[in-house]
Amino acid sequence: MDDASSAPRPIEGTAYGRPQQHPNELLARVGPGTPCGEYMRRFWQPVLPSNLFTSRPRDVRILGEDLLAFRDGSGRPGLLYPRCMHRGTTLLYGHVEPDGIRCCYHGWKFAVDGTCLDQPCEPEGGLNKAAARQPWYPVQERYGMVWAYMGPPDKMPILPRYDCMEPLEEGEEYRAAVARIHGDPSLPEEMPYSWLHMNDNVMDPFHVQVLHTTFSGVQFVREFGIMPTVDFEYVPNGVIYKAYRKLDDGREVDRVSTWLVPHIMSVPSVVLAPGRSSGLGFSVPVDDTSSRILFTGRMKPNADRRAGTGLAKMKPWSEMTFEERQDTPGDYEAQVGQGPISLHSEEHLATSDRGIAMQRRMLERDIRKVMEGGDPEGVVFDPAQEMVHVPSGNFFREPAHAREPA
Ligand code: FES
Ligand SMILES: [Fe+2]
Repeated sequence: MDDASSAPRPIEGTAYGRPQQHPNELLARVGPGTPCGEYMRRFWQPVLPSNLFTSRPRDVRILGEDLLAFRDGSGRPGLLYPRCMHRGTTLLYGHVEPDGIRCCYHGWKFAVDGTCLDQPCEPEGGLNKAAARQPWYPVQERYGMVWAYMGPPDKMPILPRYDCMEPLEEGEEYRAAVARIHGDPSLPEEMPYSWLHMNDNVMDPFHVQVLHTTFSGVQFVREFGIMPTVDFEYVPNGVIYKAYRKLDDGREVDRVSTWLVPHIMSVPSVVLAPGRSSGLGFSVPVDDTSSRILFTGRMKPNADRRAGTGLAKMKPWSEMTFEERQDTPGDYEAQVGQGPISLHSEEHLATSDRGIAMQRRMLERDIRKVMEGGDPEGVVFDPAQEMVHVPSGNFFREPAHAREPA
């Protein structure tokens, strides 16, 4: 029998023979000498909160480089290449003194700018020590964090200021922190995936409705269950979205979030408190396959960022079973699920991803500009341009009758 009904039905779209997929190499590689790595190095990078630079030296990895963070006995933060220039042991076992850090092995001592201050095993403490220099990076402190410039010395820009961070209002202080999975402090400081995952997330207003509200239960507030109407716009140094919602009580709110080059995020209050955003986040590349999410904000002492959110009622992440995490995934699960580096060639960006497409276009344009010897947008050398405008906030519209002329 060979009538049509017995012929095998054609099947389509199976996984068989699918093409090899790959990340966007231009954006994903951040080590020294890579196009994006050189682009990133043109910006001051937030390294760690100031309170983690102490007299106890610690390792810190950033942009694919292993470095040593410490604070000398006079309070100056330092960021050095960790392998002692003498014979290469790590300065992690060094002891901090008022003017620098002394290597454990033969006692060479280095200031925060790498200057060699002592070589105790050498005649007269090192007749040639002035010629020795431990590789170092310049750092500055602002908004409760230590920032480093890891780029070409002749291209060092000014450290920008952000208008959402200033001035401190009555009773506020800068609170900087490394974000952990679901805010669980027992978990590692580093996320096991590319900086691009969280960088994409900030221009993705739609996952707030799905992942954070209707899929996993209310992780922030129930109002986010309303699907927003969204506009994306380019602004100086970045992209913003305006997510409009009409709430059940009749109020109307525009939730404006900002992404600024190279990986800066400003998200307004997640409990929909009215007003401008008072904080910044950073998706800092640790290397190609891991990232550190840093936050800093103006806050009152003891204020709890998660107060009033659904997250505050959840179990700490480390106490959840895998099944519980499957039932109520958050950003971490969604992003770890994308793999160490997403396979960008197999993505299907849709209309809801316009903001992400805009970010990537801007990054790719400026990475190429740096490759050709130019300066990227957002890097400034003129102190008159140091203040950056951050448009984020929850802006409630006036009721229509209040707008009508008297
Ligand atoms: S290895 Fe550091 S002083 Fe010798
Ligand atoms: Fe999210």
